[in-house]
Amino acid sequence: MAKASMSFWVMIQRKRWPLMVLLFLSVSTIGVILVRSSFESCKFSGQFVEEKNVYSISSSAKFRSNPLDFMKSKLVLLVSHELSLSGGPLLLMELAFLLRGVGAQVVWITNQKPLEEDEVIYSLEHKMLDRGVQVISAKGQEAIDTAIKADLIVLNTAVAGKWLDAVLKDNVVKVLPKILWWIHEMRGHYFKPDLVKHLPFVAGAMIDSYATAEYWKNRTQARLGIKMPKTYVVHLGNSKELMEVAEDSVAKRVLREHVRESLGVRNEDLLLGIINSVSRGKGQDLFLRAFHESLEIIKEKKLLVPAMHAVVVGSDMSRQTKFETELRNFVKEKKLDNYVHFVNKTLTVAPYIAAIDVLVQNSQARGECFGRITIEAMAFKLPVLGTAAGGTMEIVVHGRTGLLHSAGKEGVTPLAKNLVELAMQVELRQTMGKNGYERVKEMFLEHHMSHRIASVLREVLQHAKARALR
Ligand SMILES: *[C@@H]1O[C@H](CO)[C@@H](O)[C@H](O)[C@H]1NC(C)=O
Ligand SMILES: *[C@@H]1O[C@H](CO)[C@@H](O)[C@H](O)[C@H]1NC(C)=O
Repeated sequence: MAKASMSFWVMIQRKRWPLMVLLFLSVSTIGVILVRSSFESCKFSGQFVEEKNVYSISSSAKFRSNPLDFMKSKLVLLVSHELSLSGGPLLLMELAFLLRGVGAQVVWITNQKPLEEDEVIYSLEHKMLDRGVQVISAKGQEAIDTAIKADLIVLNTAVAGKWLDAVLKDNVVKVLPKILWWIHEMRGHYFKPDLVKHLPFVAGAMIDSYATAEYWKNRTQARLGIKMPKTYVVHLGNSKELMEVAEDSVAKRVLREHVRESLGVRNEDLLLGIINSVSRGKGQDLFLRAFHESLEIIKEKKLLVPAMHAVVVGSDMSRQTKFETELRNFVKEKKLDNYVHFVNKTLTVAPYIAAIDVLVQNSQARGECFGRITIEAMAFKLPVLGTAAGGTMEIVVHGRTGLLHSAGKEGVTPLAKNLVELAMQVELRQTMGKNGYERVKEMFLEHHMSHRIASVLREVLQHAKARALR
């Protein structure tokens, strides 16, 4: 592996491929592996604002100006519950950079920081400082003053709610009308009064999928007897950097060859990929069962298909030891060692997306909140086999851009059958991949996300102004 990477770097350097270097880290590129499973997926119904059609702006007008231009010289305070390479903070950083791009004054606060020096925090903070984002302490007078002065405050994740009372104290009521609460989680333990009691009184909630919004509406009412504020569903978009790689056939081929070589997978083999941090919620165990079952079907029916391999990207033996051991034992027991490959957690997922032929999104229970890897794989023209749950259902069109199966054990056989179906039909894979790419171009690009966010911010500013006048 080390040898392969080395020659890869030499090759990049010889060819002076700036694009390839880009792959190796730019926070906005992030083909995010949602590194922590704290962002289990997102789900909800009814009162949230249907803003699907707001952006049916004609495509020629769409590019003329930046939709966020009106944020120029506005003061925006971003409150992150933590600073790490997980999905939530990285998304907020992307928003910080979009706002800086139009000349907004952006101040960043990280509510929970470890006491000891942390390399990741250090490098992310410097990335922000380099781009003109001010980073200030979560506590103290400066934080309070900034909150009072700000035109807009974005609280990121439910957990960030802790910051309000702890720091602002008596000033909380004053700032609520200018808070936009961006929520990315959908698990039960977030529905606690100490986290979300102010939620009904903020200007709005922004949530990554209809499914998650639905879930929040239901649970806040059922568990806490509180009502969601005006809720906006804003699907995420792929960064420009990721799209550049996805649309560069030379880069894609180089990455594909490199990764396949390092895994011992031939060009003509069929490589299935599951790219999520390894944990039970993401369903790698059930995927491996389905993979095994598909091989049995192929053997039994003597089907003519390419050799099939599976790569599990997102392994972390130090964190999920028991679950990982279970996965590896299964592979050993079924004698799949030569066909199942484990790759450690990484932020650099583009090479793996380039290397695989099919993405499997097997998140369990309520599914993904949104599932950014899904739109990233579609950008690379890959068909997606996903669980019929959560955000995946808003991205994958069953039969057109991929195939859906149910979550849970009952989904294993359907997934195995879908794997066989795609293995047998190269044309189906290509057609679905192409359809997926077109869907991304229509709905899931950075400029789509900017447009959606812009209209939400506009409404929140209006709301704040109206309250201030009263
Ligand atoms: C709300 O939650 C309850 C209990 O989990 C469920 O039975 C019901 O179908 C949910 N309603 C909606 C609209 O999702
Ligand atoms: C993957 O992570 C484990 C520890 O969790 C480490 O021992 C191993 O060397 C890593 N593998 C690679 C290829 O970096």
